[in-house]
Amino acid sequence: MQEPLQTRMMDQLWDLQLSNGYITDEDVIKLSRQFNLSEIEVEGVVSFYHFFHRKPTGKYTIYLNNSIVADIKGFSRIKETLERESGTTFGSVDRTGTFGLFLTPCIGLSDQEPSALINFYPFTNLNAIKIKDIISSLKRGVDPETICDSPADNIRYMPPGNKTVFFKEFANGSAFARATTLGEDGVLEELKKAELAGRGGAYYPTWKKWSAAKSQPSATKYVVCNADEGEPGTFKDRVLINTQANTLIEGMIICGYTIGAENGIVYLRGEYRWLKNKLEAAIDEYKKAGLLGTDCGNIKGFNFDIRVQMGAGSYVCGEETALLESLEGKRGEPRTKWFFPVEKGYLQHPTVINNVETFCAAARIIEIGADAYMSQGIPGSPGVKLLSVSGDCKLPGLYEIEWGMTVAELLELCEAEDPYYIQVSGPSGECISIKEKYRRISMLDLLARKDIRCGGSFMIFSKQRFGKSAAKFFRILYV
Ligand SMILES: Cc1cc2nc3c(=O)[nH]c(=O)nc-3n(C[C@H](O)[C@H](O)[C@H](O)COP(=O)(O)O)c2cc1C
Repeated sequence: MQEPLQTRMMDQLWDLQLSNGYITDEDVIKLSRQFNLSEIEVEGVVSFYHFFHRKPTGKYTIYLNNSIVADIKGFSRIKETLERESGTTFGSVDRTGTFGLFLTPCIGLSDQEPSALINFYPFTNLNAIKIKDIISSLKRGVDPETICDSPADNIRYMPPGNKTVFFKEFANGSAFARATTLGEDGVLEELKKAELAGRGGAYYPTWKKWSAAKSQPSATKYVVCNADEGEPGTFKDRVLINTQANTLIEGMIICGYTIGAENGIVYLRGEYRWLKNKLEAAIDEYKKAGLLGTDCGNIKGFNFDIRVQMGAGSYVCGEETALLESLEGKRGEPRTKWFFPVEKGYLQHPTVINNVETFCAAARIIEIGADAYMSQGIPGSPGVKLLSVSGDCKLPGLYEIEWGMTVAELLELCEAEDPYYIQVSGPSGECISIKEKYRRISMLDLLARKDIRCGGSFMIFSKQRFGKSAAKFFRILYV
């Protein structure tokens, strides 16, 4: 189906922002004519997103992460060094228009802080010497793309005995082939049996969501992947996109096959722009293999395609209805919930929205079968979960744990350094004390006070951090 013009608005704003460093008055007028909107409406979209500017942001636009993990890893020193070396202060551009310095919340690199984006390319594990080198190279006209880092995946732990679910070798098309053998209802049965629940944090049963979309009579349906990963301290989706783009794509194809959709969209957070080419290359590979496009996987009449849509810096766009608004080229404001997205989602068509990890897990469950998946975990929480671990520990990174692991076990694995409290699931999650280290990480209700319901982020803090730095960032519930 042809998408309306306004859905391309974000792409055009990105092009203008990247080519000119800002969006001019003339651009606003041009866009308003092109999309048949008022200038105020266009201004409204531009002003909503952190990465779109109405004033020049410098030849080199530098966004330094100011999250709590960056703070404890030396943010202040980096900030000072950047200001000294570039000759400007944060929130402004230097006199020559060369450097623009801006602060930004968590950029999904908490395992390698302090970090920054320069013209949206990643620079990690920053220190004063590295900053001096970077700025002097940029002054010589070096392209940031040629000197940026390739962030490490830091996959620190997988279930022993080669029992990883997410990271074992994957043959493109294998999960989809099994899905077509199972049939649409068989796929739903398998996901139900495996008790797969949404990994974006709400843990809604995936099979129920897919089943609700399948039962909609509409001829046009969408599959949307939520790759906005805005929860501070989380980076599991970054690692999945970098290492498992094929299983993500395959999870989306299986979803499209099951619900009867023809269109898939990955909404990729602006902070992960550096992953866009890689993701699109994986999509192209699937197209070339006949697994995307017309008659995917030689299934007559099953046509399915995927495109990537960039976000532009907005935490709230991770919320599914705000994400839909943003996909439609509007301000990313959450919708009043008259309808679930599976009823009226993208462009008012039935839409399944799932997290990156959910799609990857769905593909793996279909590939290996629910029984194999359920050989790990605990009752009520079968299988495995990806955790993003950062803060005061020797081994920050990604942990694929069996559901039911205790916090104490995780702290030991990551070599936590004098842990005193842990912020679970970002600021909107829960701050737990080391006294609660025998709590299990599982899907059971957080209110039961027995188990931690977790979107994926574990930020560990030692006693010395307690107080000022934590209070600055979080509402401490109890320690
Ligand atoms: C403020 C807010 C931010 C959210 N951010 C994200 C996010 O970054 N990534 C994500 O997958 N889900 C996020 N969610 C949850 C989504 O609204 C939605 O539940 C999820 O994408 C559904 O996918 P799942 O069922 O696979 O978890 C957020 C929700 C809220 C209320």
